[in-house]
Amino acid sequence: MARIKSVEVKVPAKVNLALKVGGIGADGYHPIETLFHAVGIYDTIVATPSSVLGLEFSGEGAQSLPLNNSNLAWKAAELIAEYAGVEPHVHLNIHKNIPIAGGMAGGSADAAGTLVACDALWQLNLTRDELMSLAAQLGSDISFPLVGGTAIGRGRGEDVTSLLTRGEIHWVFAVSAEGLSTPKIYKVFDEMNPNPVEPKIPTDLIAALTGGDIKTAAKMMVNDLQAPAISQRPVLARILQAGDHAGALHGIVSGSGPTCAFVARSHADAINIANELQVSGVVERTLIGAGPVKAAHVTEITYF
Ligand code: C5P
Repeated sequence: MARIKSVEVKVPAKVNLALKVGGIGADGYHPIETLFHAVGIYDTIVATPSSVLGLEFSGEGAQSLPLNNSNLAWKAAELIAEYAGVEPHVHLNIHKNIPIAGGMAGGSADAAGTLVACDALWQLNLTRDELMSLAAQLGSDISFPLVGGTAIGRGRGEDVTSLLTRGEIHWVFAVSAEGLSTPKIYKVFDEMNPNPVEPKIPTDLIAALTGGDIKTAAKMMVNDLQAPAISQRPVLARILQAGDHAGALHGIVSGSGPTCAFVARSHADAINIANELQVSGVVERTLIGAGPVKAAHVTEITYF
């Protein structure tokens, strides 16, 4: 077997087209029904052989991330090594484009990408089911980047089923420098919803997406964590308003926030909306991307 010198993996960000949340369970997690959607904003992971497990980050906000076993990517490398019965001898160099702690599952994407990268570097050839099972052990949002596209998530979010949709969605993301804590947002959700109901994605939203009617779909996008996120970061309401004024079809808070996601009519429209948001003064940074895109995948392998 030829020895591999490096593996490069690209892993996409996600936005929830719908995020419906139920009452907290005995395990401390909330049952959810969600529509995950992978967008073309990628973190890149380069895995190389090493005598010890190592981690480094570059890109926006990279210096704020832990470089030890409290990082999900580190945990992912340890978990797949243990499962496969090999030493976790890998150095991971992760370039970040996905906003950190932004509700776009950047940390989860890196963990999912690390599973794919280590599988290739160590030539393990694990099945998709094996990788999905490892992902579910690491956290709620780590399975979806292995599936990509648009998909229904149930349970804690780890139970993922692909949904075949038509049409491309052009997105503008308004990114904040400071994150929001997911557990805190779920806690505020509990306080705001003393009588939670069973979480259910609107069936009309699924019908619009499978029919390729993006305009109708956009209007039906919904996030039960939006009100809790706004209560913790009131400026998000003004950012959503600014997107509306800039001509977005619809705007929602992404996941547990604070990133706000806006649907545009086209790529050109997305650029205009991003520019308007930028001059509105309420938005720190914008990103543009289209979806759905495919799952975490190997983009390059080099050999010794
Ligand atoms: O699974 P993960 O580590 O991503 O979850 C982080 C935290 O978010 C959990 O400890 C829990 O407080 C909250 N959470 C939840 N319900 C979910 C997913 C996450 O309450 N479905």
